[in-house]
Amino acid sequence: MKDPSYFIQMSTLQQPRVQELLERLFAEASVADAPLREKIASSTPEERTALMAQVTNEPHVFYQGLAKTMFLPVSRETGRLLYMLVRATKAKGIVEFGTSFGISTIHLTAAVKDNGGGRVIGSEYEAAKAARARQHLEAAGLSDFVEVRDGDATESLSRDLPERVDLLLLDGAKSLYPRILDLVEPKLANGALVLADNADHNPEFLARIRDPKNGYLSVPFAEDVELFMRLANA
Ligand SMILES: C[S@@+](CC[C@H](N)C(=O)[O-])C[C@H]1O[C@@H](n2cnc3c(N)ncnc32)[C@H](O)[C@@H]1O
Repeated sequence: MKDPSYFIQMSTLQQPRVQELLERLFAEASVADAPLREKIASSTPEERTALMAQVTNEPHVFYQGLAKTMFLPVSRETGRLLYMLVRATKAKGIVEFGTSFGISTIHLTAAVKDNGGGRVIGSEYEAAKAARARQHLEAAGLSDFVEVRDGDATESLSRDLPERVDLLLLDGAKSLYPRILDLVEPKLANGALVLADNADHNPEFLARIRDPKNGYLSVPFAEDVELFMRLANA
């Protein structure tokens, strides 16, 4: 009988160079994002509401101001879940709104690579973040499968998407989730998955995707993540 380890295949995510890179990035994120955590912790409820209103109504002020150099990454758990969803569905065409320094993109692209190939399109309007994300994807050995587009995603994701999108990650400005979904929706395969981080910040968007007549099956989990599936004739 063969040694059980003979059958075990290591995922790209578990390769030492990728694991070490992700550890370093999550540690950097923890330091870079500390001012926001501290601001929230020391705010009155009114100040917190005002900050959330700014994030929702004036995302450019937030992302190009206080959050300009912040990572604001998906959690480790959401990252791993993204990897597993892409692997389990054998997804090949992936679109991401909000790449930041590339933490979520590394998880998505590692899974596409382990699926045997495909195409991941990221989007980030802070040029310095997009450049760093490309460096990180290169360091992880994933550049062949991914393109990080500069500029506003409402423009950069309006053209040249994969013919069939199997998974969409929404993690940029929450007020733009409906517009980005409108851009990608015609390409979503029947059964495609959409994961929206902090979708609870956009109740109208949640109402849209939770209404069965709009062609989605939706489930909220982990407090701030909404996962939904496109149900439509392919
Ligand atoms: C929450 S962070 C993304 C974190 C990333 N998904 C990760 O896990 O590491 C949101 C990012 O979206 C970017 N962003 C916000 N609105 C955007 C837009 N309209 N177009 C492109 N990028 C945008 C911000 O600059 C910010 O870096």
